[in-house]
Amino acid sequence: MQFKKIGIIGAGKVGIVLAGLALQAGYEVRISGSGSVKKIDLTIDTLVPGAIATENADLIANSDLIILAIPLSRYKNIAPKLLKNKLVIDAMNYWWETDGNREEVLSPDSTSSEQVQNYFKDSTIVKTFNHMGYHNLQDEAKPQGAPNRKSLFVTGDNPQAVDQVAEFVNTMGFDPVVHYHLEDGIMTEPGSPLFGASLNATDLNDVIENFADTDFGKQIAAAKKK
Ligand SMILES: NC(=O)c1ccc[n+]([C@@H]2O[C@H](COP(=O)([O-])OP(=O)(O)OC[C@H]3O[C@@H](n4cnc5c(N)ncnc54)[C@H](OP(=O)(O)O)[C@@H]3O)[C@@H](O)[C@H]2O)c1
Repeated sequence: MQFKKIGIIGAGKVGIVLAGLALQAGYEVRISGSGSVKKIDLTIDTLVPGAIATENADLIANSDLIILAIPLSRYKNIAPKLLKNKLVIDAMNYWWETDGNREEVLSPDSTSSEQVQNYFKDSTIVKTFNHMGYHNLQDEAKPQGAPNRKSLFVTGDNPQAVDQVAEFVNTMGFDPVVHYHLEDGIMTEPGSPLFGASLNATDLNDVIENFADTDFGKQIAAAKKK
């Protein structure tokens, strides 16, 4: 394992599932919420015993790999300098019930992870864990080589970082399908056929190959031409 210490920012549904998977995989795990440790201590102790409940700054200072598992509308509450020089997984999506008006959260001219990367400009952002529901992440994690093992799309602009995260995804119980363009993350966002899907690598690759022919793919292509 290239990483030893995993830090998960966001002690909600996804953060707790990922903490459990990371503990099972043998990592040292830290997890933080938006407030004090007291607010999450009991939940973490009960649901993912062994994970260390802490606050963002301590978590970031003591982790080799950070996962952002908070509402997309909240990432700007984290100061970019805190994540300087860190490898960061963006597991976030825009979700209107949680995030409110899309225009207030995202500008229309790029994908959400590109905007996250622009904000955390001194960090390296890799997008993954965002397109499978938390129940499926919990239930479908399997050892490498298990039949019909499910797959996660992994993408980012830094190839070395993408490969490292892909290996991490493998240790967490999923076959990585790797791309090297952060903007390709759009293929996993709400509206895309991949969003919410729980597919093996062959089927996931099929969806990716045919993405341009889907209604969502056509919408994205049309928006790019404008
Ligand atoms: N739910 C899914 O199945 C799923 C699957 C894949 C990806 N995602 C994406 O993953 C992200 C998290 O989703 P979720 O369903 O886990 O949400 P959730 O259950 O609402 O949990 C979000 C967590 O983030 C914490 N948080 C908010 N701002 C924070 C900050 N500045 N620092 C540290 N923690 C902060 C919240 O703490 P407080 O409660 O104290 O505010 C809460 O514990 C979203 O972007 C979502 O789109 C969700």
